[in-house]
Amino acid sequence: MPSKIEELVRAHDEWRSGRCINLQPSENILSPAVRRALSSDMAGRYTLRSNEFITNDGASNSYGGTRYLDEVESLGEETASSLFHGAHVSLKPLSGHVASLLMVAATCRKGDTIMSIPSTEGGYDGYGQQYIPDLFSLKFRPLPFDRERWNVDENVAAEAIREVKPRLVVLGQSFILFPYRMKEIREACDDAGAVLAYDASHVMGLVAGGRFQDPVGEGADIVVGSTHKSFPGPQGGLFVTGDDGIWREFTRNTTWRVIDNAHWNRIAGVAQAFLEMKRHGPRYAARIQSNSASLGRYLHQEGIECKFGRIGYSKSHQLHLDGAAMTAAGFTFGSFSSKLQGSDIIVDTTGRLGTSEVSRLGMGEKEMKSIASLVGEAAAGRDVRAKANKLRREFDIHYT
Ligand SMILES: Cc1ncc(COP(=O)(O)O)c(C=O)c1O
Repeated sequence: MPSKIEELVRAHDEWRSGRCINLQPSENILSPAVRRALSSDMAGRYTLRSNEFITNDGASNSYGGTRYLDEVESLGEETASSLFHGAHVSLKPLSGHVASLLMVAATCRKGDTIMSIPSTEGGYDGYGQQYIPDLFSLKFRPLPFDRERWNVDENVAAEAIREVKPRLVVLGQSFILFPYRMKEIREACDDAGAVLAYDASHVMGLVAGGRFQDPVGEGADIVVGSTHKSFPGPQGGLFVTGDDGIWREFTRNTTWRVIDNAHWNRIAGVAQAFLEMKRHGPRYAARIQSNSASLGRYLHQEGIECKFGRIGYSKSHQLHLDGAAMTAAGFTFGSFSSKLQGSDIIVDTTGRLGTSEVSRLGMGEKEMKSIASLVGEAAAGRDVRAKANKLRREFDIHYT
């Protein structure tokens, strides 16, 4: 007889990946090959290769039986290096947040200042004063932001960087819609002696697909991020740099300071996802962008307003619901989310809608129209579960 846990896992899988239309921008679904890697024997194994800081008493590894594990990691790193254009890549960070911790540890010292987009403007909470900065005894200063364009206010931000002289500037947001113009920020970082990083947690799938922007090509010293939001890999983190000094510090801080076991089944899964993105990434990323714009337009026709319609809604995998219009319609983001969940349409409670997963399933313009209509009906109080389930069942991962 299955255990209670087995029953819960099965019920979750059957509901969330079998029947729901998932519009959460922080999530994605995995290909069958990635799932196979996650449940493989690698889930129970160790490997710890020697490097400049880990000598293993002269042996090349602390463990035996590692030859396939090590080859998987090397191939994954090589593929990621070709996708993100950085000479040095690590798949070891266990999540995007852990990659951010390692980035800060590799670049900042006690008392330094870090500048990033504040959470009030959609920046990642983790860079806020009381989180990563307090952990490392750093000061946080906000990077000036233009709410009208939902983008960094490049010239004002460049001036602020020259004045504040932070040790680290981090671009990227949890509520990211548009690429940044990095030239002014890069020049200001050069003048201020600051390291420029790009947190691509949300847009990594678009970057890997050659869309959105190329952070390293446009001047970032470091790219960090999650491997499971717009990038369709297992939950994990990525660290990329072209800078030998930063790489050395990263390596010093990784094993036994932040990570011991890096979860090799996860690394196999993410390496497989890199191979899939190498082949299918451009098409997937283009579809995400066109689906975001179409969904915004079709929702408008249903009377559900997203912000920034006048500038095309979004170039990313996200749309932002218009809070004022929601309030006028009697919703909070939370109550809107619960209402939709009643019809098996899953959105978060922060006012974001995401198109990664539906795009990964192969849905396009026609389905965005159907989804907008289902969202409209569900918001109006009708139970459209049967229609949502039917639409979901018509699609499956169309490549492995
Ligand atoms: C911009 C940004 N950076 C980092 C993170 C942390 O990522 P993870 O959940 O993979 O630890 C998030 C999470 O949402 C994020 O939005």
